[in-house]
Amino acid sequence: MNKLESKLNEELLARKEANQLRHRLSLTSYQSNEISTDEANYNNFASNDYLGLANHPATINHLKQNIDQLGIGSGASHLVCGHHQIHHELELSLAKFLGRESAITCSTGYMANLAILQTLAKKGDLIIADKLNHASLIDGAYSSQAYSTRYPHCDMDSLESRLKKETANKWVVTDGVFSMDGDIASLDKIAALCDKYQANLIVDDAHGIGVIGDEGRGCGEYFGLKQTQLPVLMGTFGKALGGFGAFVSASKTITEYLVQFARPYIYTTALPAVIASANLFNLELISNNPTFRLKLLENIDYFKSLCIKKNISLLPSDTGIQPVMIRDSQELMAIHQRLKESGILVGAIRPPTVPLNSDRLRITISASHSKIQIKQLVDHL
Ligand SMILES: Cc1ncc(COP(=O)(O)O)c(C=O)c1O
Repeated sequence: MNKLESKLNEELLARKEANQLRHRLSLTSYQSNEISTDEANYNNFASNDYLGLANHPATINHLKQNIDQLGIGSGASHLVCGHHQIHHELELSLAKFLGRESAITCSTGYMANLAILQTLAKKGDLIIADKLNHASLIDGAYSSQAYSTRYPHCDMDSLESRLKKETANKWVVTDGVFSMDGDIASLDKIAALCDKYQANLIVDDAHGIGVIGDEGRGCGEYFGLKQTQLPVLMGTFGKALGGFGAFVSASKTITEYLVQFARPYIYTTALPAVIASANLFNLELISNNPTFRLKLLENIDYFKSLCIKKNISLLPSDTGIQPVMIRDSQELMAIHQRLKESGILVGAIRPPTVPLNSDRLRITISASHSKIQIKQLVDHL
């Protein structure tokens, strides 16, 4: 083993000793409420497929009919020749669905957040971010030339005191639905503070799009925010929309600026058109049909009511993300393993994904779960 490898091995060992080593499950089934590996089958409460669209039969059928025209790879970046008519249609439909001026599709949510922060927040600007924001927003802030500061989770007084002090151009950045806690940022209050102190609001609504708001248009709809109040909205297709990739929705000027200047948008291969087509199909599916979302809400209520009966304490969340705090990595992994042995898969989330001593089971509820599956989960919990 050379010097580099022995150094890396030390870190791997330390991670193992802290019970924080990650393992990848290799699925042999497609993503669904039931999944399989070579060893076992599981009822799946770990994915972000909140509406059960990751393999909806109608979408598969649509793709079968279109794959001959769309092919597989996009072959190039958007600005060279990877931008297909389907991307354009998806962008128009998204903007219409969200009631906003325009949208651009990005290859992943991670890259969309890098693109937004690196490109829009300039040297001398200040990024003010919620402490529990997604890693991609944290990395976006680090990779921009702006200064950044973080306020305690959802603490409006701290946010205001940071806004008050600062004379620079300011960007307030927050998740809409927090991915590891399931709570919703008070965007109404944040938008009012942004208005009062002339700051620009950026919201990552990866876990809100498709599921939050009366029509599933996300946290912006939930709080009744106009584009002027929420100028930069990012969302993903890989969660409730059951596909892959992401988008940024903003004014035409902002999206055009990103197309021209955002390196994570420009210097990467475009999302394959066939995936853009699946995203578009699923977007239309949920735009015209509230049953997916209503079923999800019913399942969340059912799960929470069973937990109340069994005295299982949950974090305050009304979304599909329902964490159970365990706090200790060793205990968390033991519970996770016992659930697996009972044929149930949930997320086991440990530091550094979450702060120290906030290890948790991250249970995600989907519209595709049956009541029987949910009852079995709670019985085993
Ligand atoms: C809040 C949030 N933002 C961004 C991302 C990144 O999106 P993507 O998986 O498309 O890169 C994720 C999860 O993956 C997320 O949970």
